[in-house]
Amino acid sequence: MIDAGMANQRGQWWRDAVIYQVYVRSFSDGTGDGVGDLPGITRRLTQLADLGVDAIWLTPFYPSPMADGGYDVADYRDVEPQFGTLADFDDLIARAHQLGLRVIVDIVPNHTSDRHAWFQAALAAGPGSPERARYLFRDGRGPDGAQPPADWMSNFGGPAWTRVADGQWYLHLFTPEQPDLDWSHPQVRAEFEAILRFWLDREVDGFRIDVAHGLSKNLVEPLTDLGAASVDKNLRYGLDDHPLWDRDDVHEIYRDWRKILDEYSPPRIAVAEAWVAPGRLGRYVRGDELHQAFNFQFLLTPWECGAFTEVIDESLAESAEVGAATTWVLSNHDVIRHATRYALPMQVDAAQWLLSDGTQPTIDAALGLRRARAATLLMMALPGSAYVYQGEELGLFEVPDLPRELLQDPTWHRSGHHDKGRDGCRVPIPWEPDGPSLGFGPGAPWLPQPQQWSAISHARQVDDPSSTLRLYSEALRLRRQFAGDGSLRWIEKGPHVLAFQRESGLACVVNFGPDDAALPAGEVLVASGPLTGAGRLPADTAAWIV
Ligand code: NOJ
Repeated sequence: MIDAGMANQRGQWWRDAVIYQVYVRSFSDGTGDGVGDLPGITRRLTQLADLGVDAIWLTPFYPSPMADGGYDVADYRDVEPQFGTLADFDDLIARAHQLGLRVIVDIVPNHTSDRHAWFQAALAAGPGSPERARYLFRDGRGPDGAQPPADWMSNFGGPAWTRVADGQWYLHLFTPEQPDLDWSHPQVRAEFEAILRFWLDREVDGFRIDVAHGLSKNLVEPLTDLGAASVDKNLRYGLDDHPLWDRDDVHEIYRDWRKILDEYSPPRIAVAEAWVAPGRLGRYVRGDELHQAFNFQFLLTPWECGAFTEVIDESLAESAEVGAATTWVLSNHDVIRHATRYALPMQVDAAQWLLSDGTQPTIDAALGLRRARAATLLMMALPGSAYVYQGEELGLFEVPDLPRELLQDPTWHRSGHHDKGRDGCRVPIPWEPDGPSLGFGPGAPWLPQPQQWSAISHARQVDDPSSTLRLYSEALRLRRQFAGDGSLRWIEKGPHVLAFQRESGLACVVNFGPDDAALPAGEVLVASGPLTGAGRLPADTAAWIV
């Protein structure tokens, strides 16, 4: 187990940790079947240690029919054979800890797979049975119950209710293969507490809690129709007493989980994936609840000076109110990679990847990358913890034109092929410039990589001081000395330039405007792009100065 002597040892290690998200299917294929796996990850851990991250977060690797990339778990205490074995998991943890990397695993408590033993038992046992009581079965509306119990929509499109052979309906806020559990049932709570302990005993350092804002629901009948407000995608709803999302009593679950995490030595942590209305996130990180919550407001912020200063102020204030450290995140496996997002024309329908006139948008990739690099220096200078999504350190962009027949995201199918879904940010990592999968594994990858990724493969970037990979490792190295947890003092807040100073004296300046900007006096430690000949900061560039 990790203990004193590691690089980041101030007790509450997560407060300034840089946590690297490994999307297991797409990181590194050790077996050659074209799909990433645990042995593949273990083999690449040295590269992550060299990058300078503090921890990794593994997306679900449990047995799963893969209706939603593994977020449909059939058995919470084992490893999907495609990804390896429990012994492979133990090897991964041991190697990571040897290298000083902590490991966080994903826990998916809102729903199970429909192949989970509990759901199979619920189907077999019939209406009114104790087996059904662990899920959310209801009778339908109308004289013969043929109408769903409410008009609720699934987050991936289509209805959130599916009817079973005996006529009852069950709730699934995601795909029909992901039935929602009833968290008011004591067996559900006990089971997940046991699952936490199972992985804690295998020495994981923490959990990322999937759909953390959705566990508690109010399904007391009569159910109310909610229309578009039944899906959680849009944070603006923020309805009081919403029957499905961000209910006050969800926090009781996390208070219980915190007690379990604290039983271990050193205490383990948990981070909430909670898409909630502004101002509601701090509730998840109160002193007796979770340690972190992803800051999706930051991820959703458009490339605009005022929008960034505002979200930084709001995020810091919200976490300070409860004594938590803020987190920052720019990309993950559910959103368009930020190197593309920051160059998307405003009018683009990102679901279909089309402009309103039906034409494909032209994306200025160089502009996107320039902004992405600047955003990285901004994020790494801010007080708190930062999440990095695999491949962003290579400057990978979204792949919007994958062959339609290869798309796997359920969103694509559930939206009637309207929404292209999230496969474009899940394309396997290019490690080498050549080979059938650019070093991802010995065989062809499960999603094809763009030709241009050869030139930006890990191997090509590692010795190039101007590469995005080297920018990340340099920023992470300097961050240990100059940034991390704490506070900031604003030097400039727009209209085009944002600048702040950290306790160490480090100043971070970001130029969002169209023209060059002056830099404060001092030594430039690192910049996201070349400065002008006169030593000024060009547009869409950031620099750190002491
Ligand atoms: C959030 C996960 O990040 C996403 O990939 C998944 O589809 C949903 N939760 C449902 O589990």
